Amino acid sequence: MLGLKRLALVALCAIESITPTVSARSLFNLRSIQHDDALDKRQSLMQKYCPSSTPGAACFSEFTVAAQKITYRIAIPEVAAAPFDIYLQIIAFKATAGWAGIAWGGKMSNNPLTIGWALPNGGNGSVVSSRFTSDHSAPGAYSGATYTVLPSTTANATHWQLDVLCQGCSKWANGSLNPNGANAFAWAKATKAVANPASNSSSFSSHDGKAVWSHDLSLARVPQSAFDALVAGKAVGA
Ligand code: HEM
Ligand SMILES: *[C@@H]1O[C@H](CO)[C@@H](O)[C@H](O)[C@H]1NC(C)=O
Ligand SMILES: *[C@@H]1O[C@H](CO)[C@@H](O)[C@H](O)[C@H]1NC(C)=O
Ligand SMILES: *[C@@H]1O[C@H](CO)[C@@H](O)[C@H](O)[C@H]1NC(C)=O
Ligand SMILES: *[C@@H]1O[C@H](CO)[C@@H](O)[C@H](O)[C@H]1NC(C)=O
Repeated sequence: MLGLKRLALVALCAIESITPTVSARSLFNLRSIQHDDALDKRQSLMQKYCPSSTPGAACFSEFTVAAQKITYRIAIPEVAAAPFDIYLQIIAFKATAGWAGIAWGGKMSNNPLTIGWALPNGGNGSVVSSRFTSDHSAPGAYSGATYTVLPSTTANATHWQLDVLCQGCSKWANGSLNPNGANAFAWAKATKAVANPASNSSSFSSHDGKAVWSHDLSLARVPQSAFDALVAGKAVGA
């Protein structure tokens, strides 16, 4: 009985691991819901990601847009309801993501937008920009969310990686996140670089890729102590 169940699990993992950017490190694989005509639906995945060497031994919920080589990772403390702090990591391929972002309410308007891009001229960091819009025009600055850029933020010749603590991304005027289940999120990105990458208030051109997905934040929950350690960049107890 048990053997059969194990076999089925192994078979499921084997199928999942064929997907290019998803490796055997996944513990749970859930098919994502996402809508983008330009994308192969089979190539985006939501899963739990537990790297071995993360401060706090924290796990993340992870969503990868395989066709764009953009990964979003999220950790949150074990709370019952919003508002709560969010640890967000975006890892993006420079050639496809001049900028990439996330819309916390799953749409462009009336929810906090977190946008990132690489520092210019080989700088080894990334920039976060807090935005909001009430329509489909270029989003302006949003003071309802505050960000702490964490030291693991980096960039190299091929990728930029943004690690931030967001306070204000889980609750806004018209909505809030469910820390225990599914949430509609949206990603967007443009290949074109932003106008003035050194500034978080830079203008940027509209997306050439975007989609909505269902993100299960119950996979992002870590004990408060692990969350604090993650944000501090330290192992628990260190
Ligand atoms: C200069 C900046 C931007 C412009 C001019 C712009 C423009 C537009 C327009 C005209 C649409 C509706 C038509 C369509 O579906 O293409 C749209 C939809 C959308 N945009 Fe943007 N956008 C910008 C930035 C962003 C950012 C930063 C995000 C998220 C991080 C975002 C997320 C979305 C999403 C998810 C949709 C799908 C429909 C919806 O949710 O309303 N956009 N955008
Ligand atoms: C809240 O939603 C309503 C209706 O969709 C919209 O008119 C209003 O501008 C939104 N307010 C904010 C602050 O997002
Ligand atoms: C890159 O990061 C290292 C270590 O954080 C720093 O010493 C160096 O000055 C940085 N280089 C650039 C170009 O910013
Ligand atoms: C840019 O950074 C400053 C200083 O951290 C912050 O006060 C401001 O809100 C940020 N603006 C945007 C658009 O993110
Ligand atoms: C460049 O940065 C990305 C994101 O941090 C990382 O995954 C990749 O291994 C780095 N590449 C090199 C050559 O260090």
